[in-house]
Amino acid sequence: MEQIAYVNGSFVPLSEAKVSILDRGFLFADGIYEVAAVLDGKLIDNASHLARLERSVGEIELALPETTARIQEIQQELVKRNNLANGMVYLEVTRGADTGRDFAFPKGDVKPTLIMFTSTKDIINAPSARTGIKVITVPDLRWARRDIKSVALLAQVLAKQAAAVAGAGEAWMIEDGKVTEGGSSSCFILTQDDVIVTRQNGSAILPGCTRKAVVALAEERQLRVEERAFSVEEALAAKEAFVTSASVFVQAVVSIDGKTVADGKPGPMTNRLREIYVEFAKATAV
Ligand code: PDD
Repeated sequence: MEQIAYVNGSFVPLSEAKVSILDRGFLFADGIYEVAAVLDGKLIDNASHLARLERSVGEIELALPETTARIQEIQQELVKRNNLANGMVYLEVTRGADTGRDFAFPKGDVKPTLIMFTSTKDIINAPSARTGIKVITVPDLRWARRDIKSVALLAQVLAKQAAAVAGAGEAWMIEDGKVTEGGSSSCFILTQDDVIVTRQNGSAILPGCTRKAVVALAEERQLRVEERAFSVEEALAAKEAFVTSASVFVQAVVSIDGKTVADGKPGPMTNRLREIYVEFAKATAV
């Protein structure tokens, strides 16, 4: 059966899901996206993703074409129509298609575009969850408002392509000698004195939903967390390193630029936080 996508009010076969070449998402990357995981047919941490969606669209003065409550209903309907057990729902909202290519916002009554599609992934049993991933480092070439989840992802495309060519699973982006974040993940280390360190939120990084949940879950368990920037040298001297995102949950990093982190295996804290996160995810799924 062909996959079903959602486009501006309609559920259609993926091959028929189309938007205009004048869509501002296509012409200017004038749009926002979100990716929510699905476990056992339910959305993971979706309230957090929808809250970030509202914040992102607010920052670029884009009005959502539907309420977030309705957006969640559409996500759920799409999961059902695709019979999706485990994977992700991608959603994107753009400033719509005007009659030409004007940089400034459309003056007329241009409706934002809202599209969604799903993909299948067994996040819990992914082989890299057991083995961990290698990462490479690249300069962070992005714009200054990385807190907005914009669809302008060219710097991440190039970073993750460089990682793929190097046989690595993620690229860590570096600015002023410090790690900002992964191409599509938040970065963490566990220091030798057992402090979980992740960069503080701000305009240099995307406020990760998984990051937020992991920090809260760790603090609830009296684990020590410090939100500050760290360098690659510090990560290489750490006990453990890991990344978080909706598409991997908590994922061990076992080498950086070819140098192993600790013994080159996923560490106990990473494994524990992954278990705790999966438990939270299942308990709060909608
Ligand atoms: N990416 N940082 C960046 C730059 C990201 O693109 C992402 C997510 C994250 C982690 O955020 P969250 O925990 O909310 O997924 C951090 C998604 C998964 C993607 O682009 O596919």
